[in-house]
Amino acid sequence: MKLLEDRIRKEGIVLPHDVLKVDSFLNHQVDPELMFEVGKEFAKLFADKPITKILTVESSGIAPAVMTGLAMHEPVVFARKHKSLTLTDDLYTADVYSYTKQTTNKISIAKRFIEPNDSVLIIDDFLANGQAVEGLLTIIKEANIEVQGIGIVIEKTFQKGRALIEKRQIPLEALAQIASLENGQVQFVK
Ligand code: G4P
Ligand code: NA
Ligand code: NA
Repeated sequence: MKLLEDRIRKEGIVLPHDVLKVDSFLNHQVDPELMFEVGKEFAKLFADKPITKILTVESSGIAPAVMTGLAMHEPVVFARKHKSLTLTDDLYTADVYSYTKQTTNKISIAKRFIEPNDSVLIIDDFLANGQAVEGLLTIIKEANIEVQGIGIVIEKTFQKGRALIEKRQIPLEALAQIASLENGQVQFVK
């Protein structure tokens, strides 16, 4: 997606350990117009799939996921990372390991927001090692619902997330694919 690549070139900052900082439009400040274009692009890419719900993880997945839900006219549910105050909820939970932080955190979704015939699209801001997606796939399996695809805003193709998803034969679309962040430079695929 050219609009997104241009924005990454212009505002992305390469940090140590292969981290791309894009907090001026995605991870802290959010550009709603760019996110709406992102949402419409995912809606187009997954138009042929029978999707009834969008799933993501708080917090940075919410903006692109909501815009995708808006474009597809489907509801959006984000997995929580922290216990909600309404502890009475019956929850699906999964462990998510972060290679960056070397910690394991739980994500959870209230069972009442998943219906037996749901067929979901996962949306997330970054695909690195794929652990957040793995966590959502664990919940989807436990809930016994269908996954129709995974939409990623920015993929770091040199990390192992894609391989994990392809192994499961789930359709994967990434709007910007980064081949390398070496020497502080963003190199896109192709
Ligand atoms: P990891 O194994 O490298 O930790 O990768 P993982 O895919 O599990 O991602 C862990 C967190 O780091 C996720 O956010 C993910 O979006 C973010 N992340 C991974 N690579 C990059 C990067 O190059 N740039 C930025 N900006 N973020 C990256 P999170 O901890 O769930 O936080 P949140 O922002 O969604 O709240
Ligand atoms: Na994220
Ligand atoms: Na993030």
